[in-house]
Amino acid sequence: MSAPDVVVVGGGVIGLATAWQAAKRGLSAAVVDAAHPGKASWAAAGMLAPVTEVHYGEEPLLALNLESSRIYPEFVRELQDAAGMDVGYRACGTVLVARDADDNAAFAHLYSFQSQLGLAVKRLRAADCRAIEPALAPGVRGGILVEGDHQIDNRALSAALEHACKSEGVDLLTGKVTTLLSGPSGRAGGIVTGDGHQTCGAVVLAGGCWSGLIEGVAPEVASAVRPVKGQLVVLRGSGSQPLIEHNIRGLDAYMVMRSDGRLIVGATVEEMGFDTRVTAGAVYELLRAAYELVPGVSELELVEATSGLRPGSPDNAPLIGQTSMEGLVVATGHFRNGILLVPVTAYAVADLLATGRAPEKTESFSPLRFATEVVA
Ligand code: GLY
Repeated sequence: MSAPDVVVVGGGVIGLATAWQAAKRGLSAAVVDAAHPGKASWAAAGMLAPVTEVHYGEEPLLALNLESSRIYPEFVRELQDAAGMDVGYRACGTVLVARDADDNAAFAHLYSFQSQLGLAVKRLRAADCRAIEPALAPGVRGGILVEGDHQIDNRALSAALEHACKSEGVDLLTGKVTTLLSGPSGRAGGIVTGDGHQTCGAVVLAGGCWSGLIEGVAPEVASAVRPVKGQLVVLRGSGSQPLIEHNIRGLDAYMVMRSDGRLIVGATVEEMGFDTRVTAGAVYELLRAAYELVPGVSELELVEATSGLRPGSPDNAPLIGQTSMEGLVVATGHFRNGILLVPVTAYAVADLLATGRAPEKTESFSPLRFATEVVA
C-alpha cells in the first residue's frame, strides 16, 4: 500500500467514523485494528444520554455531549445513506426510576441540578412512572423523564461505519500497532505492526484504552488513558410487545430495549486493568437491579453476558485533537460517552486533518491539558 494521508489506529466506532469523515474530505485513509477482546464499541448499550448521565463539575463535557446528541440524527441519515443499512437509532427518551425513598432523594438532587443547568427534564411521581412504563415494579417511588436522551444499536453502528469506510475507499486492516514511527524532526510519520511498517502523512490514535500502550506516543496520551471495565447482559423477549419503551435507568443498572426484542442491561464500572472476564457476581447484581425496577425481566431469555473496557481519562472527558507530537492527532478517552460522542469527534478530527484547525467546540478537550512540564 502506498503511504496514505492518514492512518487511524483503532477500528472502534470513533476510529471508523473519523476515517470515514477524513475520506469524505478528500484524504486517503487506512484503519488498523488490533481486534482486542473487550472493545468498548461492541460491549455497549448505545445510550445517547447527555442529560441522564450529567455529573457535578462536568459542565464542559455536558456541552460537548449535548452538541453530539443534537447532530446525531443528521449523522445517522448521512451514515445510513452511505452504508445502505439501518443503525437502530431510536428517539425513545429515558426514564430515571427510583426503586425506594433513598433513590428518590438522590433523584431529587439530580433533578434540581439538571433544572439549574436548564436541561429539559420532568419530575415524575410513582404513578406517572407506571403510567408511561406499565412494566415498572409497583413499588417504584418516582423518577425523572428525559425526553431527549435516546439510543442507537452500537453494533449496527459499527457495521455501518465499516460499510461507509469501504464505500469511501478506506483500507480496513487488522494488526496490532506496537510502535509509532517518527522522523528526525520528531514528527509522527507511520506505524509498526507485527507484519511490518506503514508510513503515512499523519496518525490518528483512536485505540481506546489501549492507546497508551504504543511505543513512542506522546506522553500526555500514554499517561492519561486507562481501562475501566463494564459488564453487561443481553436478554431477549419472545413476544412481539417490547417490555419497555423508554430507556430505563436506576441507580444501579440501566435497561435499553432494542426494536428486535433484545434488552441490554448494563453496566458495571470496575477498575480492573485489562481484565475482561465476565463474573457471576456482576451478572447477578445487574439482573437483580434490573428485576427490582422491571420484574418482567425474569421471564426473558438470557442470550449474552459480556464485558468491555472503556477508555477512562483523569477528568472523565475525551482527548480530542493535536498532541505535542507533530503529525499525531488523538481521539480517545471517551469513557462512558464513546457512542454518544462519535459524530462530534469524527467531524472535529476530520476537519483538523483536512484544514489544520480543530473546531472551537472541541478546544477544551485538547490532550495537551494532560501534558506535564519537565523541569531540567
Ligand atoms: N454510558 C454507559 C456506560 O458507560 O455504562
